[in-house]
Parts: sequence; structure tokens; C-alpha cells
Amino acid sequence: MAELPQGQALLDGIQKLRKELDAVILAHYYQDGDIQDLADFVGDSLQLSQQAAKTKAKVIVFCGVHFMAETAKILSPGKTVLLPDHAAGCSLADSITAGQLREWKAGHPGAVVVSYVNTTAAVKAETDICCTSSNAADVVRSIPADREILFCPDQFLGAHVQRVTGRSNMHIWAGECHVHAGISPSDVRAQVAAHPDAEILVHPECGCTTSVLDLVSAGDLPAERTRVLSTGGMVEAAARTTSSEVLVATELGILHQLRALNGGGTRFIPMNDRAACRYMKMITPAKLLHTLRTGEGGVDVDPAIAERARRAVEAMIAIGEPGRGGE
Ligand code: 13P
Ligand code: SF4
Repeated sequence: MAELPQGQALLDGIQKLRKELDAVILAHYYQDGDIQDLADFVGDSLQLSQQAAKTKAKVIVFCGVHFMAETAKILSPGKTVLLPDHAAGCSLADSITAGQLREWKAGHPGAVVVSYVNTTAAVKAETDICCTSSNAADVVRSIPADREILFCPDQFLGAHVQRVTGRSNMHIWAGECHVHAGISPSDVRAQVAAHPDAEILVHPECGCTTSVLDLVSAGDLPAERTRVLSTGGMVEAAARTTSSEVLVATELGILHQLRALNGGGTRFIPMNDRAACRYMKMITPAKLLHTLRTGEGGVDVDPAIAERARRAVEAMIAIGEPGRGGE
């Protein structure tokens, strides 16, 4: 990479180029705080795909991971989509390939395939309808009760959706995100013991989701202050909460927005302070400037795959975000 300016000069360079190029900068809540502060729009996967679909900007710079930038390109094929570092992958998206999904489908003819957006374009092309943590339960409810469902790739989100919808004819792929799966029941026990009056917010991809809800059922955690919420749902909850402490079980980057949106009276505490996604953190202001300067980092999706994948993503967007995962 050619030598880049530092500090304010770097930020000024980004501002200047984004205007010249008519670029919109989209950032996921798991990005570092400095990237979130630079972005035109910060959101969860669903909100970012909605923005990518409707933006009028010529260039979309995606500060997130590869599958998210691919989704933006699928939704806006005529636009240039730039990802500042193509090594920004996703362990969850890597947990199922298109070939594995085809094989699974062959064993369940007639089943409806629901895939989390955390999948490659090739997996989306084999999918009937995508979902995110915000709308997964609504997506499953939209499918006629007599149709079998193949849900992939996240086993913890799948188990949560099955729990809230009561759907019995749903098969769940055994994939996981290494960051969320690593937030364990023992982390919850330790943090709840240290902060007994805290409100508890848990992302449904977490390895601790089922045990948190079991603890609520057993009366060991307070039902009125324990919630399984999507990323967007957590952001809304942070703006409204009046609790003095909130324990947050998800990727650490979200704490930046939770703290910014809250009036300041609440202390947001990670359930596990090692829950950082190394892929999300690969995007830096210096790489963002480099992408804007050089146009390197373009994301392309094979048009035939993109066309099939687009149907699955658009079917999801049509369902919207009524529940925000707050179930
Ligand atoms: P959501 O934005 O859908 O909650 O996704 C969480 C995630 O792990 C993104 O990588
Ligand atoms: Fe993928 Fe997990 Fe990182 Fe999200 S947090 S990008 S699901 S590895």
C-alpha cells in the first residue's frame, strides 16, 4: 500500500474522496468505533442490505465482511461495491458450501430453504428466502406450516427460531459463528454473579442463548430484564433502557453505538470481553482511504448466481423487520 496520511489528514482524505466519487459508506455495528463514526450509515445486516438496495450513490463502500458486500452487489448490480479488505471473511458463512446445501436439499425434496444472510452468494443462490437475526422468526412464520424447512447455517439462531415459532418440521444446519458461539453459559454465570441487578441482552447466535432461557425458566434469571435480541433490537433497547447496568452478549463493536445512543446513565458491560470478530476488525480507516483512492477492492458476483441469490434476498426484504428479533 502506498504511503497514506495519518490522523486528521487521513480522515479529511476520506471525506474529500467520498464526495468526489459519490460514494456511500455503510458500516456494520461490529466495526471499530472509528469506522462507525466515519460511516454515512451504521446498521445491522438487514438495515445495511436495505440501504444497499435503495441508495442513489454511485459507489457503495462496505465496511463489514465479504458476504455483506456481496449482498450489496447482488441488490445493486449496477453499482461499484468496494470492500476495503477482501480477507474480511466470516466463520459462519464458511460453515456451509453451495455443494453441501445442494446435497442437503436432495435429501429433503420440497423443503423450503431459509438461509441466514451470513452465507456466500452461491449458497444464497440455492436458497428460497434469506433471513437475518432481526426477521428470522417472521421469515419462518411466512412459510406454510406443512412445508418442511431447511434452516442454515447457524445452529443457535435456528434453535432460537424453532423455540419462538414452535415449528417442528424444521431441520437445522450445525454451523456457528466462532465469536458468538464462544460466549458460553459459564460467561453468563460469572457476569450475572458479578452484576446481579443488570439487564441482560443476548444475540441469538450466541452459544449461551439456550442456557440463558433455561435459567430464566428455572427462575435463576429475571424474565423481565433478560432478552434475546437481534443486533438492531439491542440498539433500540440501549436507547430506551433506564437500567444502571446492561450485560451484552454479542460482538464487542456494538458497545460503541449502545454507549453513544444511551443518554450516559447506563453502563454497558460485555458478557465476554474477548468476543471480537477479527474479520470485522480488518477494516481500518487507512484501508478505507486506500480503497477510495485506488478503486481496489471491487466485489463482483457472477451474474447468474446473483440473479438467483437476489430472489432470496428480496423475498426477505419484502417481509421487512416487524419483530426486530425481540422475542
Ligand atoms: P446481524 O446484523 O444480522 O445481527 O448479524 C450479526 C453478525 O454476526 C454479523 O456478522
Ligand atoms: Fe461472521 Fe461471526 Fe464475524 Fe459476524 S461476528 S462476521 S457471524 S464471524
